[in-house]
Amino acid sequence: MASLCSRQCWFAFFLVLAIWANQATPRELHESSSMAERYKRWLAKYGKSYRSAGERQRRFQIFKDNVEFIDSFNAKGHKTYKLGINKFADQTIAEFQATHKGYKRLGSKRLEKTSFKYENVTVVPPSMDWRKKGAVTPVKDQGNCLSCWAFSAVAAIEGIIKITTGKLISLSEQELLDCDTKGINQGCKGGLMEDAFKFIISKKGISSRANYTYKANQGTCKKAPHEAKIKRYEVVPANNETKLLMAVANQPVSVCVDSRSQDFTYYENGIFMGDCGTEVDHGVTIVGYGTTSEGIKYWLVKNSWGDDWGENGYMRIKRDVAAKEGLCAIATDSSYPIA
Ligand SMILES: *[C@@H]1O[C@H](CO)[C@@H](O)[C@H](O)[C@H]1NC(C)=O
Ligand SMILES: *[C@@H]1O[C@H](CO)[C@@H](O)[C@H](O)[C@H]1NC(C)=O
Ligand SMILES: *[C@@H]1O[C@H](CO)[C@@H](O)[C@H](O)[C@H]1NC(C)=O
Repeated sequence: MASLCSRQCWFAFFLVLAIWANQATPRELHESSSMAERYKRWLAKYGKSYRSAGERQRRFQIFKDNVEFIDSFNAKGHKTYKLGINKFADQTIAEFQATHKGYKRLGSKRLEKTSFKYENVTVVPPSMDWRKKGAVTPVKDQGNCLSCWAFSAVAAIEGIIKITTGKLISLSEQELLDCDTKGINQGCKGGLMEDAFKFIISKKGISSRANYTYKANQGTCKKAPHEAKIKRYEVVPANNETKLLMAVANQPVSVCVDSRSQDFTYYENGIFMGDCGTEVDHGVTIVGYGTTSEGIKYWLVKNSWGDDWGENGYMRIKRDVAAKEGLCAIATDSSYPIA
């Protein structure tokens, strides 16, 4: 063998083999060239690479299924929203469900009742966008971690801190993942926004994201200076979008939604009117509301899937639907901190 090929020659041979294995598999080449092309562009856009050619092939099949779903949805063109091929396009819905949500359903446990400081609000502005008031930090990304509950709670706190002190400080979800571990909240295994508020109240504050950075996994609890404090929190009486509006007119509010559908995952823009149910699985933050020029009322929702998803990280979701729990059950468990 050694006489057939020098060391350099073997090296070159394996290099070519490795490049070929990573480039394309025969199956992929037999697929419609445009789909393979789109996959290639998608891999380049998101800087994706896989451990093996087999994995790449498996991901291509999932990508293809998702893209076909997205294309056929958009082709129907009768909806108020569009889907898009985002960075989640190589995941199955089940995989995505197991890694990017994190709202723990209460099950048989009754929802909490508290006082509701906005109960007598009579006048609300026709629209509100807390981003324009400087009360919303840039969109964050929970990564592969069931930590939506921390992002939802923190965004609501960032809002009320700005409203009461004039300062917008990006606060630490990681502190909640690492330190809030004695109750319902379990780092990357899920939690609840109300319990995050309770924890921050008991610890007399929360640190900044700059001083306690996000890692997308649970680590040991560290000490970092607290930059923001809340006194208490309240729950919006459930299943009434008018009451939810009275709260959101005054501050960003933590809510949960049923985000299990494929069209939620690949939402790109417009007013979401998805065919979702009431199995709430994801915590987000309502940071405003409004009405389109066609007269469709919507909630403005800040998500924690990065700014590649949706409208630069946000979703507008239909407001004031016939069902009392709201679309995707958005009015079933809403809460806000009081600073
Ligand atoms: C709302 O109005 C009722 C009746 O006037 C009053 O008893 C209650 O304290 C008010 N609630 C708040 C939060 O101001
Ligand atoms: C980080 O902590 C220090 C105190 O150790 C504080 O002075 C600083 O303001 C904090 N930074 C941020 C961005 O909160
Ligand atoms: C929803 O809340 C509003 C405002 O408090 C109230 O007027 C209305 O009766 C409530 N709707 C239902 C169905 O309870």
